[in-house]
Amino acid sequence: MALDTWPKEAHTLPLGVERDPQGNLTFSGVSLKELAQTYGTPLYVLSADVARARAQAILQAFHRVLGPRVYVSYAMKALYIPAFLSALKDLPLQFDAASYGEVVAAQKAGIPPSRLRLHGNNKTDRELELAAQGAVGEVIIDNLDELERWLRLPRRGSLRFSLRVAPGISPHTHEYIATGGRGGKFGVDLESGEAFLALREAEKGGLPIQGLHAHLGSQIQEAEVYAEALHRLLDLRAAFFEVTGRWLAEVNVGGGAAVRYDREKELSPAAWAESLAHALSRRPRGEPRPVLGIEPGRAIAAPAGLTLYRVGDSHRVEGFAPVVAVDGGMGDNIRPALYGAVYGAARVEGGGEGEEGPVHVVGRYCESGDILLRGAVLPPLKRGDLLAVFLTGAYTHPMAMAYNGIPRPAAVLLEKGRHSLVWERETEQDLFRFHRLAPWQEGP
Ligand code: LLP
Repeated sequence: MALDTWPKEAHTLPLGVERDPQGNLTFSGVSLKELAQTYGTPLYVLSADVARARAQAILQAFHRVLGPRVYVSYAMKALYIPAFLSALKDLPLQFDAASYGEVVAAQKAGIPPSRLRLHGNNKTDRELELAAQGAVGEVIIDNLDELERWLRLPRRGSLRFSLRVAPGISPHTHEYIATGGRGGKFGVDLESGEAFLALREAEKGGLPIQGLHAHLGSQIQEAEVYAEALHRLLDLRAAFFEVTGRWLAEVNVGGGAAVRYDREKELSPAAWAESLAHALSRRPRGEPRPVLGIEPGRAIAAPAGLTLYRVGDSHRVEGFAPVVAVDGGMGDNIRPALYGAVYGAARVEGGGEGEEGPVHVVGRYCESGDILLRGAVLPPLKRGDLLAVFLTGAYTHPMAMAYNGIPRPAAVLLEKGRHSLVWERETEQDLFRFHRLAPWQEGP
């Protein structure tokens, strides 16, 4: 597999995807036709090789540009299947959990608490207690209410704390995935002085915060916004030093690096790291450098996955693009319907007859917005063909749902030419494992 993990040209096959001598697609060296035969469709196909290559490329770029005082924390919300986490475990990564459920995923992968960081707004009291008992190594406090709750907890063990700041920066991305602006749901406001007050209050209450954190949003293509965020956080850090004489040890600028699903510009790790280096170079002399952290999710997980579908019914109305239905859809990938996300795709089988042309690939869910690929240019697709939709490793499996009573797909992990089922296909019976009839409805 080519190790150029950040492709330069649009519309080439993604990392790890190749055609074999018969023209059929392989991923991570494994035949997709064979996977479809063995495990059925729809199928999430995950490559440990690609995930590791992507994570390593980020680690290397950050260390090369910024030296050793840098850490990378994989945002598990992008994909938290334990076998996938396990494939990343031997790399020098931290792991971000958005809830206790994701902490459990990490536990199942054998990741120790010291490498876990707990995020999230409106954490439950139970999550606070489990964290205080040592389930994670670090907590990122989201807001003043949460800070108050932490101050009331008598024993917090050796837990470390960071404060999530809303730095007042809105990157150009879909409004549902922009998080760094003012007046939103995440973080303590910087501009009004609330963040500074929170730091002071924590200090007075004997809860020393050791880091500042901001997450600006997702699918961010411009590196400059990270430099601006870091600059603002470093100003806050300096202001805190002025009054306390203490430098906060860490500054984390979150995740959000864009991948190229279609025509987007990928944010390369080098550009990302260089923007942070630039912000550091603008700081006054004598200001000690903090440890820098980032939290990529999508940049690691998205290219590490593709989804395999089987083509079923199709129809065509004169004057319109053909509509071809596959055996999955918005239940296994909500992103096109929710964010208007555009994906690349290819027919798995090579050769065949007919010209490429625009087609709407739709799912089998009862929503007219259940369109996986709108006007994608593909070779003719007939019943039984296999379709691979690329870069679906992030925010598909964790956001999957059983709408219309359609069970969720299985996931298979590929590593060095081997494949193994790592998430079983749900069955119709599984959908009802939480169901009960009320006692008065039971028969005699
Ligand atoms: N750190 C924090 C605090 C986050 O909230 C997130 C994502 C990340 C890191 C990782 O961001 P990434 O590198 O993956 O962009 N469901 C949406 C994305 C929601 C992202 C939520 N937070 C989507 O499918 O586009």
